[in-house]
Amino acid sequence: MGLVEASSSLLFLFAIVVNKGLPSPLAGKEAWNYVEVRDGAHMFWWLYYADNPSASDLPLVMWLQGGPGGSGSGFGNFEEIGPLNRNLEPRKTSWVQAASVLFVDNPVGTGFSYTERPDGYATNVAMVASDMLVLLRHFFTEKDEFQSVPFYIFSESYGGKMAAAISSELIKAIEQGTVKCKFAGVALGDSWISPLDSVMTWGPYLYTTSLLDDYGLADVNNAAEEVKKAVEQQEFLKATELWSMTESVVEQNTNGVNFYNILTQEPDEKLTSSAGENFIALQTRRHIRPLHSQSLSELMNGPIRKKLGIIPQNVTWGGQAEDVFSYMAGDFMRPVVDIVDQLLTAGVNVTVYNGQLDLIVDTMGQELWVKQLKWEGLPGFNKLRWTALDDPISPGITGAFYKTYKNFAFYWILRAGHMIPSDQGAMALQMMKMITQQV
Ligand SMILES: *[C@@H]1O[C@H](CO)[C@@H](O)[C@H](O)[C@H]1NC(C)=O
Ligand SMILES: *[C@@H]1O[C@H](CO)[C@@H](O)[C@H](O)[C@H]1NC(C)=O
Repeated sequence: MGLVEASSSLLFLFAIVVNKGLPSPLAGKEAWNYVEVRDGAHMFWWLYYADNPSASDLPLVMWLQGGPGGSGSGFGNFEEIGPLNRNLEPRKTSWVQAASVLFVDNPVGTGFSYTERPDGYATNVAMVASDMLVLLRHFFTEKDEFQSVPFYIFSESYGGKMAAAISSELIKAIEQGTVKCKFAGVALGDSWISPLDSVMTWGPYLYTTSLLDDYGLADVNNAAEEVKKAVEQQEFLKATELWSMTESVVEQNTNGVNFYNILTQEPDEKLTSSAGENFIALQTRRHIRPLHSQSLSELMNGPIRKKLGIIPQNVTWGGQAEDVFSYMAGDFMRPVVDIVDQLLTAGVNVTVYNGQLDLIVDTMGQELWVKQLKWEGLPGFNKLRWTALDDPISPGITGAFYKTYKNFAFYWILRAGHMIPSDQGAMALQMMKMITQQV
């Protein structure tokens, strides 16, 4: 893997090569590897070096996908922020032009990560975090030139819950000297930080956007109340099952609204549960499968695994994803608001960003848990008014609002659903540059 300067002519040449369907040398430099984080449990990472000859000192951004069980090396890379899209054409809004980007397939069993034994799966975020710390220790040792580069964790959905827990362990490890890196902040995108606040706001959000009538609002609220009871009684597996049932109530009353973007409908056949179907099977169908479309799966298990050359023969990209979700089901509905509070108190730069059209992690729910923070800066944050940001591709049109106070920031991203970089790529890139202090 030689270092090649990314000139526009090379990119052009590259586009021709790709269009002919030949193996795809990327314009920039990249690297990838496995780390055995526990006995028989292997995690895969894929790094793209920043590809911008006119800028030096660009940060390192680690991207964490949701699910749990969604693959950053696949979905985040080819559908959101990587240098190429799913058709292997250059992406204009790739984050690689402003950062080195590290995709890690986590938890173990996600994407190209795999476990050889059933006890290799993580069952809670603490285990997810300790596995990631092993990976990061190896990564910053193998790529020691990144030890002095500002390191940010960006995340989406369940990835945000993991990112909070990982950040908390990372600051301890840096203090203890077991991981050497320059941790500069964490960004939580449409993140499952307070699951109950999300579920409890589904009804009001859908009602005010003309997606529920009065009957529907009552049904969704009643179902959500059952989730609340289970969470209050700390019955978290039951809460996950009731969350699934609440989603079915939403689907029935909205004629199948898409949980990831309320302006669209469920992409596949109606996802309402079939008789006797296990709720975990239903939830993986609802929430893991959209991250593993057939075309992405064919790409990852075809040309990409061939290019990477290190994927064991009996490992399929996405092959263990459902088990990843299933092993985490008892932890799924637990909040991590207290961890975000600890990060803020410890002085870590924390950003929350959320898509206006996201249902599953709607903005109303994010506002609720943010307002419950015990962080001493919260009153100061609440006093501020937000600032409008132009959409970078449509000057004069508002693309987002944001507000920042001390080490906390909130970005409200307009016209985006759950997968913000897919829906509003230019705005997402602009936001990343602002968070990483490049503009
Ligand atoms: C793949 O095959 C090897 C050798 O048979 C075995 O040790 C390993 O557990 C298998 N891995 C998976 C993920 O099934
Ligand atoms: C946190 O962000 C502020 C700007 O908002 C910056 O001055 C500071 O250096 C950042 N802290 C770290 C640890 O990067």
